[in-house]
Amino acid sequence: MRTTWDFAGTRALVAGAGGIGATVARALAEAGAAVVVLDVDKDKLDGIGAGVTGLVADLTAADACRAAVDEAVRLLGGLDVFVHAVGANDRRPVLETRDEVWERLLAVNLNSAFWLGRAAGAVMVPSGYGRIVYLSSVSGLLAHKDHAPYAATKGGVNQLMRVMAREWAADGVTVNAVAPGYTETDLTRDYLARPGVRASMEALVPAGRLGRPEDLTGPVLFLASAESAFVTGQVLYADGGRTLV
Ligand SMILES: NC(=O)c1ccc[n+]([C@@H]2O[C@H](COP(=O)([O-])OP(=O)(O)OC[C@H]3O[C@@H](n4cnc5c(N)ncnc54)[C@H](O)[C@@H]3O)[C@@H](O)[C@H]2O)c1
Repeated sequence: MRTTWDFAGTRALVAGAGGIGATVARALAEAGAAVVVLDVDKDKLDGIGAGVTGLVADLTAADACRAAVDEAVRLLGGLDVFVHAVGANDRRPVLETRDEVWERLLAVNLNSAFWLGRAAGAVMVPSGYGRIVYLSSVSGLLAHKDHAPYAATKGGVNQLMRVMAREWAADGVTVNAVAPGYTETDLTRDYLARPGVRASMEALVPAGRLGRPEDLTGPVLFLASAESAFVTGQVLYADGGRTLV
């Protein structure tokens, strides 16, 4: 892959070794960064390939998030970039959403965003430099039915990101989000395989296709780069125009 930004000497932590997290981790490594990736699933970490260090961690507990960031900082010798690409979804109407589903999605999508982002900021703010990028979603803006917990967590991530951005702007730490539309990963595979779903989703995208993890590397690497220093508190929609219609 052709890389545009130079990440030589950059120490990067990516939370989430799924379709998007693994692709971003590989792109950062190819651009010269030292990269540690966190995920609960060891097979996904092992699948990323050479040049990236995997750490197994269940990121639904505050202590585990703190310990994982500490270990990553120890391995990397500091922290310049943090990308949050952990996520889960469970599509069902509000009236059929059980307490456990609500609590699990909040823990995976939003609690981990706070705990990991706070731990990353605690290293970056005193050092005077940092780039934090959250994977939000078009669901943080649009009101997709059957998406209540997921949409609530993505709206929450957008606001968490904005407050962190404001608090840390004077310390050289930027905090932004990239919001994809439907992207072909494990998160959407089963849903897209249902009869008629893929065609109806594609019809909603002006670009005429669903996203691929590679569509997110440019937006994420830009916001993770030194060149984006004056961009903070923004949600960058990488959705083929989905939020235009
Ligand atoms: N794929 C899409 O269509 C899409 C669209 C918009 C936003 N996003 C967001 O992008 C991010 C990455 O999604 P993806 O498509 O790569 O999904 P994915 O399912 O491929 O990857 C998610 C990863 O999170 C990990 N994970 C889940 N629970 C965890 C836990 N408790 N502790 C540690 N790791 C855990 C999973 O093991 C998996 O590797 C998520 O925040 C997702 O909400 C995805």
